[in-house]
Amino acid sequence: MTAEAKDYAEIKSIVDIPDGTPEIEVDDINAYYGNKHVLKNISMKILPRRVTALIGPSGCGKSTFLRVLNRMNDYIEGFRLEGKVYFKGIDIYSDEIPIEELRSRIGMVFQKPNPFPQSIYDNVAFGLRIRGIKKKSILDETVEWALQQSALWDEVKDRLKDNAYSLSGGQQQRLCIARALATKPEVLLMDEPTSALDPIATTRIEKLISELGKEMTVILVTHNIHQAGRVSHYAAFFYLGHLVEYSDTKKLLTAPSHPLTESYVTGRMG
Ligand SMILES: Nc1ncnc2c1ncn2[C@@H]1O[C@H](COP(=O)(O)OP(=O)(O)O)[C@@H](O)[C@H]1O
Ligand SMILES: [Mg+2]
Repeated sequence: MTAEAKDYAEIKSIVDIPDGTPEIEVDDINAYYGNKHVLKNISMKILPRRVTALIGPSGCGKSTFLRVLNRMNDYIEGFRLEGKVYFKGIDIYSDEIPIEELRSRIGMVFQKPNPFPQSIYDNVAFGLRIRGIKKKSILDETVEWALQQSALWDEVKDRLKDNAYSLSGGQQQRLCIARALATKPEVLLMDEPTSALDPIATTRIEKLISELGKEMTVILVTHNIHQAGRVSHYAAFFYLGHLVEYSDTKKLLTAPSHPLTESYVTGRMG
């Protein structure tokens, strides 16, 4: 353990968000990769139909936390989770909800666009087909809807049969967002979705996140505090596996309560 980690072994989260029925409630979780303790006593309520940003330096546990929310860590050998996670009151690590259903209701978009080597249409229809939907009219309608939602429809409507790899990086990421949206999830998890994109593509995705956040719950990992400021309603600052501070984004970025948050948002921390 570094001296810094020792000093902050007992960080108590400062939380200042409005009351309300949470979409997701994380209740005192601890997470480990083997002996490595990477999330420490985290409790957090995520409010519905808002954008919540998770910020903090590299390695502080943001991606691990995000993957806890749709059980993506289950595949990582040596991973262990203690504590409870509720989605609309359902314990997601119990038999109450099958994992396929969980993943279709809590969708995910990754750092690097990862379309399948298939047509644009087939990429978006993927999640519907694995759920057994075969009817062409329903597939057509949902593919168009999802591509409209991800602001890609106008650019691809005449080339739906083209391979997804023929799209630019920014278009590929919007395609991945459409693929995630096609099953009409209630929550969208996004892990640094613009970090591989140029500034113009980034702006488009940020606009899209703001739009989506009016109708669904978006949880966005970003190491860019300016991006958090532009698109999120609430922001949570993670440090060394702790949730340090969680509040209204504007307050977190301009008038933080914890000295560690202040040091991060003012750029004094790496
Ligand atoms: N698959 C893994 N196996 C072992 N350690 C991991 C794994 N993934 C992440 N870690 C470690 O867990 C800690 C948190 O990582 P991560 O959640 O990726 O942080 P962030 O997304 O904030 O950069 C880091 O110390 C990282 O090295
Ligand atoms: Mg990460």
